[in-house]
Amino acid sequence: MAKVLLATDKPFAPVAVSGIRDIIEVAGMELVLLEKYTEKKQLLDAVKTVDAIIIRSDIIDEEVLNAASRLKIIVRAGAGYDNIDLDAATARNVCVMNTPGQNANAVAELVFGMLIYNIRNNFNGTSGTELKDKKLGILAYGNVGRNVARIAKGFGMDIYAYDAFASAQIIANDGVKALDSAEELFRNCQIISLHIPATTQTRNSINYSLMNSMPKGAIIVNTARKEIIDEKALAQIFADRNDFKYLTDILPGIDAELKAAYPDRYLAMPKKTGAQTAEANINAGIAAAKQIVDYILNGNQQFRVN
Ligand code: 3PG
Repeated sequence: MAKVLLATDKPFAPVAVSGIRDIIEVAGMELVLLEKYTEKKQLLDAVKTVDAIIIRSDIIDEEVLNAASRLKIIVRAGAGYDNIDLDAATARNVCVMNTPGQNANAVAELVFGMLIYNIRNNFNGTSGTELKDKKLGILAYGNVGRNVARIAKGFGMDIYAYDAFASAQIIANDGVKALDSAEELFRNCQIISLHIPATTQTRNSINYSLMNSMPKGAIIVNTARKEIIDEKALAQIFADRNDFKYLTDILPGIDAELKAAYPDRYLAMPKKTGAQTAEANINAGIAAAKQIVDYILNGNQQFRVN
């Protein structure tokens, strides 16, 4: 009987776990749970006898792959797969998939949650500002970026986007203004929402000159990845511009210093929270379970990323 491990350091909502269990068991497979683990050793032990793994941001490196001698497939229940050593997986003939779009609405909603909380002065009762008519720049127009644009329309924002890979026409079809570069986006928009993945090209790409080019009252919202921000530059821009704000659900390495020095201009959550809704957990978890069953039983490789 094929064994599927659900390994989530940050657990899914119980309703999502029971949906995953149903799909795996109806397919005649066994579900093994490793939730909220604290040591890598627990993961190394748990992978030993399994054929498939469902993970979130859990790290699957060469050591984990070496311990998983029966492994055939890993599904990242979510979008970004920078936490998986793809080359090592490919070398061991392990298929890697993600579940694109399944948690995108949850992440997009959190962007606006953080924005409103911040521009209403952390709900302290003093007079704040509104989103209506503000220029919003969306960096990367994938599943999350598109959802951010959809919600921003409801707020009456003036919406711009730049994506190095999506055509301007795709962006324009949504009634969003397509710009030609990240530089142009940052120069024009008071609010920037980041949705680029962490890759060798994007690491530290949100640098001092981009941040400093933003108009007065600049706000950057990062629900993407910690690695895309040049944190030295982030510390510098906070020191140089007293109008600059940074809101994120991914703790930067300089969290303690920003929190102490700029409590009104910096908001960060202790754990990545964008995809932490029951709906997103159900969508991504069920998709992952179905993809595993379909791969093991039928060889379906849709959503393969390696
Ligand atoms: C993703 O890449 O899907 C999001 O960053 C969510 O990650 P999480 O599943 O670790 O919350």
